[in-house]
Amino acid sequence: MATIAPSILASDFSRLGEEIDSAVNAGVETLHLDIMDGQFVSNISFGVDISQMVIERAAPLPLDAHLMVTMPEYYIESFAKAGADLFTFHLEIDARRQALPGGRWVYGATELRYVSRINHIIDQIRSAGMKVGLALNPPTDPKLAAPFLDRVDRLLLMSVNPGFGGQSFIEEIFAKLERAAKYRQKKKLKFDIQIDGGVGLANIGQLVSLGADNLVCGTSFFGAKDYSMRLKELTAALTATK
Ligand code: DX5
Ligand code: ZN
Repeated sequence: MATIAPSILASDFSRLGEEIDSAVNAGVETLHLDIMDGQFVSNISFGVDISQMVIERAAPLPLDAHLMVTMPEYYIESFAKAGADLFTFHLEIDARRQALPGGRWVYGATELRYVSRINHIIDQIRSAGMKVGLALNPPTDPKLAAPFLDRVDRLLLMSVNPGFGGQSFIEEIFAKLERAAKYRQKKKLKFDIQIDGGVGLANIGQLVSLGADNLVCGTSFFGAKDYSMRLKELTAALTATK
């Protein structure tokens, strides 16, 4: 059964401890930590200290850290020490920055520039004792991830341009997900597929039917009044395809 991963970026930071307790008491199986450096994305969120507090407060749930940072190498050791279960970094760390409206930007890769750096980061995450996630932004061609997919535990497909919660789902990602799931089946690979951004009751069932295994729900979870009711609704919607 697919897993729902509430993103704490959408929680009330002024009551973060209580928010984690409420989510855990509602029965979530995991939480998604969005770390942003203000360089790779046009926003700054939180770092390893807050991540560690969340990880410890939510223990023993396994939490995944999504690093939207230009230098993921700098953070591997500290997130491993903080107890992160899975560390996801972006394929686009050496890619080109594209301007978006409102002073925002997104990095998209159309070619692979430094394969050895990506492989080295994968090795470092694994030897630090964490599972490995590789993330692709919406503009990035998924075939660029192919050389690494037999070495990672997770492929994260961004379904919004990263940096902010509460954005609308980018419809093209349905086709990207279908391609990735078909490729996984053809090559008999083991990575799970996480969809991240704009996921909610309206699209979660279709995403699962196309092959998604883990669905990040920021606003669609923490935007609800009653977290256990919302978790039940989202869980029911996992199996209700269009
Ligand atoms: C965006 C983050 C997402 C975001 C999801 O850069 O990676 O995880 O917080 O939030 P929603 O579900 O509200 O789009
Ligand atoms: Zn994320």
